[in-house]
Amino acid sequence: MAQQKSFSSNLGAIMAAVGSAVGLGNIWRFPYICGKYGGGAFLLVYLCFVFLLGSVLMMSEFVIGRRSQHTPIKAFQTLYPKHKAWGLVGALGIVTSFFILSQYLVISGWTTGYVWHSVSGVLSSLGTDSAAISSFFTEFSTSPWTPVLFLGVFSLIVLIVILGGVQKGIENVSKVLMPLLVLLVLVLCVRSLTLPGAGKGVEYLFSPDFSKLTGEGVLAALGQALFSLSVGMGVMIVYGSYIPAGDNIFKTAMWITGCDTLIAILSGLAIFPAVFSCGFEPTGGPGLVFLVLPNVFNSMGAASVVFASLFFLLLMVAAITSAISLLEALTAWICDHTQIRRWVGAVLFFVLTTALGVMFSMSIGSLSHIKITGLTLFDFVDRLNSIYLPPLCALGTIIFFGWVMPEEDIKDELSNHGTLRLGYYKLLRFMARYVAPLALLVVLISGIIS
Ligand code: PFF
Repeated sequence: MAQQKSFSSNLGAIMAAVGSAVGLGNIWRFPYICGKYGGGAFLLVYLCFVFLLGSVLMMSEFVIGRRSQHTPIKAFQTLYPKHKAWGLVGALGIVTSFFILSQYLVISGWTTGYVWHSVSGVLSSLGTDSAAISSFFTEFSTSPWTPVLFLGVFSLIVLIVILGGVQKGIENVSKVLMPLLVLLVLVLCVRSLTLPGAGKGVEYLFSPDFSKLTGEGVLAALGQALFSLSVGMGVMIVYGSYIPAGDNIFKTAMWITGCDTLIAILSGLAIFPAVFSCGFEPTGGPGLVFLVLPNVFNSMGAASVVFASLFFLLLMVAAITSAISLLEALTAWICDHTQIRRWVGAVLFFVLTTALGVMFSMSIGSLSHIKITGLTLFDFVDRLNSIYLPPLCALGTIIFFGWVMPEEDIKDELSNHGTLRLGYYKLLRFMARYVAPLALLVVLISGIIS
């Protein structure tokens, strides 16, 4: 059964997919690892990975989705009916989306809580006392109910968008939230770059230091390129199935890749000049967002409430559009396999991922005694989501695209039935058949070993 749903225009498709790609990863992860592994040197490697490998994976997922008009499992089975077992790659994508969303909800819940606490002035009342800011975060994230409440609020917002449908929900919301996100990041860039001593932050981000670009840094660049573009989880297969028939897949993927990278760089410019100007050490992840940045904002005097609120709103907007794409992938998948109504599927996965998210959230506080292989539930799923599942799913997808799917189908889909020229095709084919599988294998093996 062909899917009838589609984005209404190329712009809508690009906005929705950029919404998926731009997320917590761009804001709290990219700038930090960029500085840590050699600034400009890292950026060069990252740009190569993101445009030569990440975009190839994105194109392969778009082709698989649009050609089959199905969600991950059926997509593989439709395009290569001889061996239905290829559907397992799709199944891996669905499992990955499920776990990533459940984990993403935890951090997004914290972000929602921090929007509330910054707007209400609680955060700024902590002043620049690092110990007070740190104990506020510990109390907040380990308390039994507060994070759960905010997690629930965040998931509900995501559910409401999904219930609105592909065009009226996802597309329209992305068309509003993405420009808002750009505006927020630009305002924060201007503030950060005009602080005294901001140059040190810019230097940290961009001045090339090839001695810091270790093997570990190269692997981090590749892992970040894949995570940042939301590939290797089947999500872009679902969004690919919504891309209108006449759209140019190559150009669409390039736009998304370019926008995602630009916002990652702008996030760095919004964060690190301010961090250095206020005399803090660079860091990434929750430590940066929930410990260092509140302190940085509180050093800005009277305007601290405004800048803290704008920043956490930026983070929340980025997280919403990413979470939307994950819930949409799960909802579309169940509707593709059963007769249930779309709203039932959406509510079902809303309940399941929220419940699991609550468990992960509590595993940081009251359930921290529950351990799997010596790790708390949250740390265990974090490892699963960063080291094992996405590279494995990406590897399966690219092998399917490069070696299994009939080449005529790929060319026909990329050229819109022969109406577009495929000047890039030879390079794409080479990357998809040889370079990408090899690179993914290296990422996977080194992740397992480390
Ligand atoms: N690309 C998102 C980020 O950089 O935060 C994370 C993500 C969202 C991954 C959606 C996968 C996905 F399907």
